[in-house]
Amino acid sequence: MRLLIDNAQVELINKAYEFYPISGVTTNPTILSKVGGNPFEILRQIREMIGEEEMHVQVISTKADEIVEEAKHIVNILGRETFVKIPAIDEGFKAMKILSYTTEISFTATAVYTTMQAFIAAECGAAYVAPYVNRIDNLGYNGIEVVKQIKNFLINNGMETEILAASFKNSQQVVELLEYGIDAVTVAPDILKNFVKNAAVDSAIEDFISDFESFAGEGKTMKDFK
Ligand code: G3P
Repeated sequence: MRLLIDNAQVELINKAYEFYPISGVTTNPTILSKVGGNPFEILRQIREMIGEEEMHVQVISTKADEIVEEAKHIVNILGRETFVKIPAIDEGFKAMKILSYTTEISFTATAVYTTMQAFIAAECGAAYVAPYVNRIDNLGYNGIEVVKQIKNFLINNGMETEILAASFKNSQQVVELLEYGIDAVTVAPDILKNFVKNAAVDSAIEDFISDFESFAGEGKTMKDFK
């Protein structure tokens, strides 16, 4: 399962890349609003930082023809490795079909709340479908179960579309999908940090160091011995 970061703040992305095995960056209009200014300024910086890794950038248009033009504009500026996020709504599906038949642009069907949206998007040629796990939970349904159902239909129908699960509120939601073999998840930096934040781990490491220093001396490591 590939791990992507759902954020547009260059420092946070940089930090995540420094410490964790991140495979790409996802953004959406809300995420961009937290940075402000010209969105392409920040997206270009992210592109520069991550090189040819995948970046997902969402269109704002809601009419098919405009979505197609906006998608071309995004990819022209940010490169082929950019997946255009297109909402899984009627005009979005129409745009997906046009992009599929007439361009090489890869797209991610976003705002997926149901298996049927994912099915239509996959048939329209989406590279990814992005189910919103926590937002589905908030509607009183089970986000994890929706993702599992999508995964099953993609496998059982031999479809190439992958799942990029999004909208997580906690690590447990990610763990459940890990176990099920979902293709990719995108998580916000604070959720990512909590994957490994654990007082018991910190305490175990501290004990090991203190035990070693008790006989080797303060600040000593294995490098000090031959
Ligand atoms: O990028 C889309 C998705 O990650 C939204 O997440 O946390 O706003 O529900 P959230």
